[in-house]
Amino acid sequence: MNTISVSRRKFAQLLGAGAAAALVRPPLSFAKLTQPSATSSTAGGTIVRLSANENPYGPSPNALKAMTNSFGLSCRYPDEHNNVLIDKVAKLNGVDHEQILLGDGSGEILKLCAETFTGKERGTLVAPDPTFEAILNNAKANGAEVIKVPLNSTFAHDLPKMHAATKSGLIYICNPNNPTASITPKDELRDFIAKTPRETMILVDEAYFHYADSPDYESVIPLVKEHPNLVVSRTFSKIYGMAGLRCGYCIGQKEAIDRMRSNQMWDSVNIMALAAASASLDDTDQVPNGQRLNSETKTFVISELQRMGHKTIPSQANFIMFDCKKPVVPLIKTLKERSVHVGRLFPALPNHMRLTIGKKSEMEIFLETFRELMT
Ligand SMILES: Cc1ncc(COP(=O)(O)O)c(C=O)c1O
Repeated sequence: MNTISVSRRKFAQLLGAGAAAALVRPPLSFAKLTQPSATSSTAGGTIVRLSANENPYGPSPNALKAMTNSFGLSCRYPDEHNNVLIDKVAKLNGVDHEQILLGDGSGEILKLCAETFTGKERGTLVAPDPTFEAILNNAKANGAEVIKVPLNSTFAHDLPKMHAATKSGLIYICNPNNPTASITPKDELRDFIAKTPRETMILVDEAYFHYADSPDYESVIPLVKEHPNLVVSRTFSKIYGMAGLRCGYCIGQKEAIDRMRSNQMWDSVNIMALAAASASLDDTDQVPNGQRLNSETKTFVISELQRMGHKTIPSQANFIMFDCKKPVVPLIKTLKERSVHVGRLFPALPNHMRLTIGKKSEMEIFLETFRELMT
């Protein structure tokens, strides 16, 4: 391929070629390397990695093919090619091109929200506790006061208390919430967004959107058109299995997106991630397969833990939070010594363990090791 004259159209065609040829994994060592096995070998031995809420089944075959086809583009800046992915994401979500900002993972989006909407002058960050801490650290680094509001007794966001705590700045809603895998009911969230003053921004982090199947759950992306202070983030790291590639995005009204963009580094999403994300969206099997496999394995693990007398917070994600009935820190440490990596401590829930739902074979190893520790 002539890399010198690759146009946006050609790039789109390359991604399309990935879609058309979808279905066979390319017979390259590159493809072999990218297939996660049930366990991963390291210099220190074989590790069962259930610590980072990753997708153990890997990216779509479409994504692998598109990346292979895009090697020749590596000498080019990806700026024009962002548009191919943005157009697809816009169409998927029924919004305009200008309403989308891509990020180097949704982690970059969270950081941009903290930088744009919080700080000594701009205001506080109000966030649930416990939650995914990244944005709390970003806001603190930006000089903002951070107000943590404990989850309520059903592990939903305590929206009345979050409303009362809000001054100005940004409210972070994580739905489904990491680390509890719990959701905040759709009616409550809709009312909360409606009554939040327009000067206060709201970021709803929907990283685990695809795993939620409760009738009480909904995405708030359709609400963006009525609420200029609402930004919703999504990621390709979870159901699309692209955590190592780094690609996420957010949707908001143009003015909010423009404000965030002015804080962003140029070309922060690399060409491989753009190619893979774009091709993943053409794979109609990736989402339902991931949902089904996660749900089957999650049901198995929860029932095994229940048989041992451990309660799990109802999970709407690709991980669970369960009560170990004793401090979790020594358990995390001993499991790690036995090469089973589980989630870190979340101080608000010191007896709970966050456990990613891996492949069934990985979960069997976890259960066997955990049983040994608990007897
Ligand atoms: C709730 C939540 N938001 C955002 C992220 C960041 O994901 P990424 O930067 O890989 O898109 C994570 C990662 O685990 C997460 O759990």
